[in-house]
Amino acid sequence: MRAKACDIDWGRCYRVAVADEATKVFYDAVAARYAQLLPDTAVESAVDLAMVAQFVDELGEGAEVLDAGCGTGRMIAHLHSLSSALSVTGLDVSPQMLREARVAHPQSRLVEGALEALPFADVEFGGVLAWYSIIHTPPHELHRVLGEFHRVLRPGGVALLAYQAGTGERSTSGAYGVDVELHAFLHHSPYVAAALEAAGLHPIAVLDRDARRGERHGQGFVLARRA
Ligand SMILES: C[S@@+](CC[C@H](N)C(=O)[O-])C[C@H]1O[C@@H](n2cnc3c(N)ncnc32)[C@H](O)[C@@H]1O
Repeated sequence: MRAKACDIDWGRCYRVAVADEATKVFYDAVAARYAQLLPDTAVESAVDLAMVAQFVDELGEGAEVLDAGCGTGRMIAHLHSLSSALSVTGLDVSPQMLREARVAHPQSRLVEGALEALPFADVEFGGVLAWYSIIHTPPHELHRVLGEFHRVLRPGGVALLAYQAGTGERSTSGAYGVDVELHAFLHHSPYVAAALEAAGLHPIAVLDRDARRGERHGQGFVLARRA
């Protein structure tokens, strides 16, 4: 029987590093509302989107990009708006988020899977975008995800990570207007940069910005290149 969001013992899940099931249950529950509330990148600030533009600039013409934790696919649309020649594959652990993505992007390759065990060949991609998808990964488990990003990236390929910046955990009741509780981790940019370096991905741009109106936390971004 499928677990309901309220049945999940989140603390235990994170202690044993099984974020996948809890994450899947949460995003399956909010997928429809997420698609309505966040249809595009209007919530992102200009500097957030500048990091995405720099990521695309580093990729070069016609690169293959993995949107790792694509959710409803709003960043797929944004990547295509920056470069129509990009080939973007979306991956997510939540079938319902992917269902929304398929409606919005029927032509896209969308794959169910986990960041910790990407179902792709070595060196398959020129770029990996992880836009707020590492937020359910505890900092001490980041190396598993970053190791996978390194594995699927070609030499010279780039990864861009975005997350709420800081330390500790956060939770929100009634997230996205649905009666479920969001649990996530803040990430400390120097730690993320060091973890990327340890995974063989050299940080080339690190940005922290303060919270804007309506945000509870600052935001962090790291762009890194595989040597
Ligand atoms: C906050 S949403 C962001 C979605 C999308 N990147 C965006 O910006 O709209 C986080 C997404 O990452 C996915 N996700 C989180 N942890 C994951 C994991 N370990 N493996 C696969 N997907 C994951 C969730 O299912 C969710 O769709």
